[in-house]
Amino acid sequence: MPTAAPAAQAPDYVRRISPYVGGKPIEELARELGFDPASIVKLASNENPRGPSPKAVAAIAAAAGDVTRYPDGNAYALKQALGARLGVDPDQIVLGNGSNDVLELVTHAFLRPGDEAVYAEHAFAVYPLATQARGATGVVVPARDYGHDLTAMLAAITPRTRIVFVANPNNPTGTWLPPEALRAFVTAVPPQVLVVLDEAYNEYLEPAQQAHATRWIAEHPHLVVSRSFSKAYGLAALRIGYGIMDAAVADMLNRVRQPFNVNALAQAAALAALADTGYVEESRRLNREGLAQLMHGFERLGVTALPSHGNFVLAKVGDAVRVYGALLKAGVIVRPVANYGLPEWLRITVGLPQENERFLGALGNALHE
Ligand SMILES: Cc1ncc(COP(=O)(O)O)c(C=O)c1O
Repeated sequence: MPTAAPAAQAPDYVRRISPYVGGKPIEELARELGFDPASIVKLASNENPRGPSPKAVAAIAAAAGDVTRYPDGNAYALKQALGARLGVDPDQIVLGNGSNDVLELVTHAFLRPGDEAVYAEHAFAVYPLATQARGATGVVVPARDYGHDLTAMLAAITPRTRIVFVANPNNPTGTWLPPEALRAFVTAVPPQVLVVLDEAYNEYLEPAQQAHATRWIAEHPHLVVSRSFSKAYGLAALRIGYGIMDAAVADMLNRVRQPFNVNALAQAAALAALADTGYVEESRRLNREGLAQLMHGFERLGVTALPSHGNFVLAKVGDAVRVYGALLKAGVIVRPVANYGLPEWLRITVGLPQENERFLGALGNALHE
C-alpha cells in the first residue's frame, strides 16, 4: 500500500498556516554581509534597547546554581508578587512562556474546529496563528484609521464566536484605545465570549492612559488581560508573560498548560524586574524621547508615520522591500510588515538615541538612492 508523505498527514488547517517570520537576528546579518555584530543596529523586534535591569541580572546569577531542579510549576513567589501589585488573587494569574504562550493557551482551552475568533485587520500576527492552529476560523474586522474598530468588532460576533482579541496598544500599528471605549466594549460583548485584551505594551503608556482593566474582571469574568515581561521590563530572551482572568478561566488554561512552561531563571528575573519600578519608568521616558526623535526625523524626511503608543513606529516608505534591503546593507535591521497587509510600511522599534539617529541617516540615504 503506498504511504503518503508524513507531513501531508497534518490537518489541512495546520498546513494552511503561514509561519511566523520574526525580526532578522543580528548574527544572521553579520554572517551574510561580513559585518561586525557590534556595528549592527537592530530595531526589528520591539525589544528594550537599554539592556536588562541589573537587579534582574543579579537574580538570574543567584538562581543559576539551582538549574538542576525543575522550576516551581505554580510560580508561587511571582504570582504572590503580581497578585499584590495588581490587587488580584494569585489563582487568577496564569504565567506563560512569553505572553505569546498565554494567547496560545486561551485558544487551546477554548477553541475547537468550527469556532470563530474575531480580531482586527493589522492586529498582532499571533491571533490568526493561534486560531488557525486549533482549526477555528479567524474573522478579520477591517481596521479604522489603522486601529481597531470596536463597533464593527462587536457586530462581527456570532453564535460561533468564542474569543475576541484586542491589542492595546496594537502591534504593528501603535494605535491605542482609550479606557472608556474598551470598558464599554467589554460590557457589550456577550458574557460567553472571552475578550482577550493584549496589553504587551501597557507599561509604555503614560500612567493616565493605562486602562487598569484587571479591575474589571470581577464584574466581567469573560475578560482576560495579558501582559509581558519582554518589552518595558526588558526580559524578551527569557520568555515570560502572564494573563489575569477569572479563577475558573485560569483553571481551564492551567489544564492545557505544560507543567513547567516558565523556567526558573525567568521567574527569578521577573520577580526582580517587577520590583525595579525605576527601570520601567526610565524605559518609558527613554521611549517617549526616542519616539519624538523618530517622529521629528520622519517629518524632516517627508515620511508619513503613524503616531504610536508603543515602543515602535510604523512609517510609510513606499517600496518597503527596497528600503528594507538598503537599510540592511547599512547595518540597520527594521521590520517589513507586508504580512500585516501593510506592504508600503516598515516598523521601526525605538532604540537608544544614537541608534535612532543611525537609522534616520540610513533611511535618508535609502530614500534618495
Ligand atoms: C501585541 C503583542 N502581544 C504579545 C506579544 C508577545 O510577546 P511575548 O511573548 O514576548 O510576551 C507581542 C510581541 O511582540 C506583541 O507585539
